[in-house]
Amino acid sequence: KEDIITLAIESSCDETSVSVLKNGREVLSNIINSQIEQHKKFGGVVPEVASRKHIENINGVISEALEKAEVSFSDITHVGVTYGPGLVGALLVGLSAAKAIAFAREIPLNGVNHIEGHVYANFIEHKELEPPFICLIVSGGHTHLVYMKDYGQYEVLGKTRDDAAGEAFDKVARALGLGYPGGPQIDKLAKEGNSDAIQFPKAYLEEGSYDFSFSGLKSAVLNYLNSQKMKGLDIQVADVAASFQKSVVEILTEKTIKCALEKGVNRVVLAGGVAANSGLRSYLQGECGKNNIDLKYPSLTLCTDNAAMIGCVAYYDYVRGLRSNLDLNAIPSLKI
Ligand code: KG4
Ligand code: ZN
Repeated sequence: KEDIITLAIESSCDETSVSVLKNGREVLSNIINSQIEQHKKFGGVVPEVASRKHIENINGVISEALEKAEVSFSDITHVGVTYGPGLVGALLVGLSAAKAIAFAREIPLNGVNHIEGHVYANFIEHKELEPPFICLIVSGGHTHLVYMKDYGQYEVLGKTRDDAAGEAFDKVARALGLGYPGGPQIDKLAKEGNSDAIQFPKAYLEEGSYDFSFSGLKSAVLNYLNSQKMKGLDIQVADVAASFQKSVVEILTEKTIKCALEKGVNRVVLAGGVAANSGLRSYLQGECGKNNIDLKYPSLTLCTDNAAMIGCVAYYDYVRGLRSNLDLNAIPSLKI
């Protein structure tokens, strides 16, 4: 049987990434060109700046990915590309490049949902992993608790009603003067702080709900910081980071475990940028262990945005016979 070579492109936010994969799970190259430096001074991603940077970067990143993988355009079986959710201008850059390659080479195009990509990062990391499992997807834009029954088959059991988990990390970090992106900085500081120093709220919502809400917690942190300032009291930044992170980690973990037990699924998979959080990894690992649940998560580079995870989805879609048309458009609010 001939190898299937996937060329994948990801440009939904502030990373221009291109990857080449062999038979879906073997990564031949995964080039990630991050724009973090360009957005830092604005305290977050500026959509127009992101689009322009993607345009500047895309051709170079494609060449680099092909070179590193030691393949040429003629070796590519099909092209995978993120078409949503994300910033529309950013998405369109990757999408246009992918369509151009598919058209010029007369090879199939597979549009990929970015959130699905985060889940599939685990298939690259863990070669034997197969569905079904419960997946907690926590990133800067999404917080979903999903039951993945089979490839391409998802049942969304819960999601955030307001801020995404990563968004809460970024906003709290900003209030603490930690800069962008805030998640990794809070993670680092939390290790030096006392997580019991301040009692921040955890929103459980109605009985039996698997939805999340982080805006109340975020406001509680902001209110705490303001009241300390008004009273002229010191702010122990590490303690605030640790206490905030503890609330997020506990609520994510408790709902995920409850969900797995109620669904009778003994495997949990973690995905998305916040899956890089060391507090979440270790607490969830411990709780899964107590409940005889197997936990899988990707290595750090596969947690945050990258094209390899997009290529993995594209591969499984391709082998199932799915194809996208060349008039595929970007869908900024695409749902899983
Ligand atoms: O998945 P991702 O790269 O982009 C989206 O699709 O949103 O996730 C980025 C998010 C940011 O909010 C960032 O602060 C958060 O993931 N993040 C972390 C950590 N590393 C990245 N949050 C907490 N702890 C971390 N170590
Ligand atoms: Zn992402």
